[in-house]
Amino acid sequence: MKKAYRLSQVQPSLTLAITAKAAAMKAEGLDIVSFGAGEPDFITPQPIIDAAKEALDQGLTKYTPVAGMPALRAEIAAWYARQFDVETTSDQVIVGVGGKQVIYNAIMSIIDNGDVVIIPSPYWLSYPAMVNLAGGTVQYIETREDDGFLMTPQMLENAIKLHHPTLLILNSPSNPTGQAYSEKQLIGLAEVLRRYPDLTIIWDNIYAHLTYHGFKHIELAKVAPDLKERIIVTGGFSKSFAMTGWRLGFAIADPERIRAMSTIQSHSTSNATSFAQAGALEALKLDPSVVEAMRLKFEARRDVILECIKKIDGVSCMAPKGAFYILLNCKKFCNVEHGLHWIQDDIDLAKYILETGHVATVPGSAFGAPGYLRLSFALDENAIRKGIERIGQALDALK
Ligand SMILES: Cc1ncc(COP(=O)(O)O)c(C=O)c1O
Repeated sequence: MKKAYRLSQVQPSLTLAITAKAAAMKAEGLDIVSFGAGEPDFITPQPIIDAAKEALDQGLTKYTPVAGMPALRAEIAAWYARQFDVETTSDQVIVGVGGKQVIYNAIMSIIDNGDVVIIPSPYWLSYPAMVNLAGGTVQYIETREDDGFLMTPQMLENAIKLHHPTLLILNSPSNPTGQAYSEKQLIGLAEVLRRYPDLTIIWDNIYAHLTYHGFKHIELAKVAPDLKERIIVTGGFSKSFAMTGWRLGFAIADPERIRAMSTIQSHSTSNATSFAQAGALEALKLDPSVVEAMRLKFEARRDVILECIKKIDGVSCMAPKGAFYILLNCKKFCNVEHGLHWIQDDIDLAKYILETGHVATVPGSAFGAPGYLRLSFALDENAIRKGIERIGQALDALK
């Protein structure tokens, strides 16, 4: 079978094997608790669903402009300006098929063969895959738990000097760490970025509305308006509006960059689905209490998962400031012979926990965090308690 060279540049997802195994165990009737999902468990708020249905009834079933319906682009611009206090116009907005597609389009519109992209690790696993598909090379900036999984200005400057990158990809709040940059930290990073005017920045803020206990998300473009021309903000409706299946995302960037991304998109998906765009338009007009109610649920679940984890010996995790993930430090259980079980790494550990405790987690190696497991807390509190208790029992059995 003929296969394109570019396929050799991406790895099949490390998480696939474990997800497939968890699904097979569920199908056998086993009670599996899954911390794997990267999506809210809520149904999309009803007014959004109603708006999409109405759009269908009214015949909104045709192509829309590639960059999105003018009304939606205008509303995204106004909403973004309102939410984050960054002036934005509709020609600075493109709507795509999920945050994923707009990130892909942004990378495809910047990266040539051999260009270097710097990505702090741990990272969302699709970034390096997209860069590789575009012919670029990834260099990671390794952040450590001791530094709060955040990059310091010095780390950024060292990486720029060493690798001469074309692009930097930042994600705050982060999947998988749940950590996020404060205003002060962003001011420090911006000072470095100012010294390298050829560097473009993708700023993925898809979890911006899911922050906890008073942590306030702040935009890079807000602390450094002078860098705005070089910043491509990518976001979407999936996480904050519980709209993962709708496949709707957007980018905000310089109009010239938006035109370049539209050109790429025009030859793949054209526009995002017309009636889904009508739903998104309604999402932005919702009373903020609707999103707030979901955020409060995540906040309570975050507190529950942290409280349950404290009771397990030998593991730890940083409290997330945002998103709905924790990275569980399981290093003490890796590379160790445990009686009958030889657990080499986090991948072995995730398999062991699934087989023994019937709990699905994602090995941290998938995100550049070996020795960790990523747990999503987008599931109800009872399931969280049950799942963490089972992880505790499975780990205790190794002692
Ligand atoms: C960090 C990050 N960025 C972007 C996305 C893309 O989300 P979507 O394509 O559903 O908008 C995800 C989804 O998991 C994510 O975790």
